[in-house]
Amino acid sequence: MTQEYVSTADAVDADLFRHVVGHLATGVTVVTTRVDGRDHGMTASSVTSLSMDPPMMLACVNNSVPTAAAIERSGRFTVNVLGQSHGDLAYLFATPRPDKFAGVQIVRGVGEVPILAEAIAALECEVTEQVSGGTHSVFLGHVVAATARDGAAPLTYFRGGFGRFEFERNDRAYEQARDMVLSRVFAAGQVITVDELADVIDGDRARAFYALTRLATDGLIRRDPERGYVIAPFDVRTSDDTFEARLAIELGVIDRVAGQADPKQLDVARHHLDTMARYLVDDHFEDFHAYLDANYAFHESIVALSKNPLLIAAFGALSIKNVMARSFGVTAQSSAAFLAVQRDLLTALEVGDADAARVAARSYCDLAKARTRQLLALTGGQV
Ligand SMILES: Cc1cc2nc3c(=O)[nH]c(=O)nc-3n(C[C@H](O)[C@H](O)[C@H](O)COP(=O)(O)O)c2cc1C
Repeated sequence: MTQEYVSTADAVDADLFRHVVGHLATGVTVVTTRVDGRDHGMTASSVTSLSMDPPMMLACVNNSVPTAAAIERSGRFTVNVLGQSHGDLAYLFATPRPDKFAGVQIVRGVGEVPILAEAIAALECEVTEQVSGGTHSVFLGHVVAATARDGAAPLTYFRGGFGRFEFERNDRAYEQARDMVLSRVFAAGQVITVDELADVIDGDRARAFYALTRLATDGLIRRDPERGYVIAPFDVRTSDDTFEARLAIELGVIDRVAGQADPKQLDVARHHLDTMARYLVDDHFEDFHAYLDANYAFHESIVALSKNPLLIAAFGALSIKNVMARSFGVTAQSSAAFLAVQRDLLTALEVGDADAARVAARSYCDLAKARTRQLLALTGGQV
């Protein structure tokens, strides 16, 4: 993995950040609040003590989750610290649904905010300040009440797993779940729960949850506030939007670098193109996944010619491998035209011919969109 990022050393993209920051072990809490007579709660690990005098906590909450708006309006939050046997509560409060508190024992604290009866500690806070940080709001809270069950061991979170450091098993569960989505074991639009996924993988809910979270990041699963995890439909629009977004990025790169592209970076792209050619022979894939990896690395290295980390991150955010796996990956049949046009793109960049590079980038996008249409027609319009 580190090797892959050597060429873009100044760009810390989402995948790299998630991987590296996952080494920071944290506790797990459920942050609760209450507004307009309704209870809210969410699993949160980005919670920490801030100051002793006055006693203060902070909680980092994604602005897109309903609990963020609820805390902003109520001006209060309670940090419920989970114990080592509370993995179930962590899943429950991390999965969007309207009735998270059903069947959960609570007591009422200041401002009627719910406190989870099972929590090993609770800190009730009044918001003193709200700070914006990237996608999140950081709520600073003055602690007005605090209780703890002494001796209880906390639940910990490390590299996407609760309390256990079973990385390889987590990764295997993710890969298994990903293959199932890609091979359409689950239908588009189908709701999938942690329990259902656990049943079809290895029975372990923690690993099923880990897999669902990663699939959601990949864009293969959508988090619906009412329904929970839903298999994201893949259709012509998704495919067109993705390939056109990649084209827009590549055209921007061509405008910026044509005639002055870094030769070393062009060599990297050439290497990836040669790798692709080993796996797409004549009109079929010898090994689709190996082709896909090389294809991704090729386009990433084209985008990296810009030396602009934000563009590289935007390319990564397209989850293009998933789109390609769900379209081109359904059959070993392909076309040598894909390779030819990508070769034209690189050659044009090597000789500094911006017009030819633009033509090749557009042709590649058109070919990809047309191929998805053919494949969707074969599979009934949606996969
Ligand atoms: C272990 C773990 C830690 C999490 N930590 C945070 C966090 O610190 N901040 C955050 O915004 N979301 C965090 N989440 C995700 C939220 O729990 C999730 O988005 C939840 O659905 C939000 O609830 P709501 O949609 O009901 O508001 C975490 C999830 C897990 C499983």
